[in-house]
Amino acid sequence: MLTFVISFATLVCTAAARPSLNNLALPVENKPEEVRSAAIKRLLGVFGMEDTPAVHGHKEPPQYMLDLYNTVADVNGLTRDPDLLEGNTVRSFFDKLRSEQVEFRFNLSTVARTEKILTAELHLFKLWPQATMAFNRLHFCQVSVYQVLSSSKHNHTQEKKLLSSRLTPIHSTGWEVFTITHAVRSWMVNESSNLGLHVVVRSLGGSRVNMKVIHFASGRNHHLSKQPMLVLFTDDGRQSTSLQDSGETTVTSSHPEAPLSDPPSRRTRSLDHSEEDRASMTCQHLPLYVDFEEIGWSGWIVSPRGYNAYHCKGSCPFPLGQNMKPTNHATVQSIINALRLIKSIETPCCVPDKLFSINLLYFDDDENVVLKQYNDMVAGSCGCH
Ligand SMILES: *[C@@H]1O[C@H](CO)[C@@H](O)[C@H](O)[C@H]1NC(C)=O
Ligand SMILES: *[C@@H]1O[C@H](CO)[C@@H](O)[C@H](O)[C@H]1NC(C)=O
Ligand SMILES: *[C@@H]1O[C@H](CO)[C@@H](O)[C@H](O)[C@H]1NC(C)=O
Repeated sequence: MLTFVISFATLVCTAAARPSLNNLALPVENKPEEVRSAAIKRLLGVFGMEDTPAVHGHKEPPQYMLDLYNTVADVNGLTRDPDLLEGNTVRSFFDKLRSEQVEFRFNLSTVARTEKILTAELHLFKLWPQATMAFNRLHFCQVSVYQVLSSSKHNHTQEKKLLSSRLTPIHSTGWEVFTITHAVRSWMVNESSNLGLHVVVRSLGGSRVNMKVIHFASGRNHHLSKQPMLVLFTDDGRQSTSLQDSGETTVTSSHPEAPLSDPPSRRTRSLDHSEEDRASMTCQHLPLYVDFEEIGWSGWIVSPRGYNAYHCKGSCPFPLGQNMKPTNHATVQSIINALRLIKSIETPCCVPDKLFSINLLYFDDDENVVLKQYNDMVAGSCGCH
């Protein structure tokens, strides 16, 4: 009889621990296929998407995005340091113009209106100066990035606004990064004002310099790994849930603790079910591997292949030890339950008491590579609450 009560209590706890599943609205009589597709749609919702992005063929993500991912996340996608990224989203875009000129245009239609633009950067790969020009006496050039405000084909004039400018050594190669946040913010307000960017190179004296001297890789003529790129740091405004904000459980480490070690304890002998039963059922922190390949998402998720979300399982019998990290409320509830003062009061629930964020590197609908951080995805430890 008691075993029945406990397993019923576990059932109650499981339901209470995952309120989001309550409104899943999956009638039992539904076919397994329907349940599966509804569940996967829900999971997409957790990752902030409506549909699975359509990715055609094998694409190579930009090295910058791979490096960024490896900086903010470990091999399992777990955030190394919550303060490394200012927002929670980093998007990369390739130039759509693919012009021979140093003109670029980026299609930002995949950025949600609600996303807050924190920083936007133009990344250009500077090539070595061409051999014939190598003896030029110039050592530095002024490289300026302009936002094109209007252009006229008839008289070949352009109205433009200076966004960023810097001195660049001529005898060098590698990525040059220019901040263009203001332009991107204005494009987000009015999409049709996005007429692109224009780069002008001048000598220190102010005269235009032949583009063979300072030469940037273009999307048309150079390897994918050197393509001009726009990198956008944004925040989608999705807040962390109350667990981390409550102040009661602060995230001090970004790595899950070792499972709650709960050796068969002697202090609950008074309960009349077997020691073995109890040991297997006390509140524990157990693995729960979410495999993106099994879900059918390996086509659009670059990293990680899956992650360990962990889960909390087991009962919270009286008396609650400190290793179960009970709240005062849980302790009192446990006592009331043990005293059987009020019939309908169950034992407290074994639930996550610390949650960590994970990172996903993926291709969006427009085949841009996006890095996104999701809060509260990994149970760091469990407790009786
Ligand atoms: C930007 O991309 C979207 C989706 O791929 C497309 O519908 C739209 O026409 C593009 N806009 C421009 C200006 O090319
Ligand atoms: C070029 O054309 C634009 C509009 O077509 C006009 O506003 C501008 O004054 C013209 N500039 C010159 C130098 O003629
Ligand atoms: C959006 O930008 C275009 C092109 O610059 C301009 O013609 C139009 O008036 C702008 N619309 C608004 C609402 O500001």
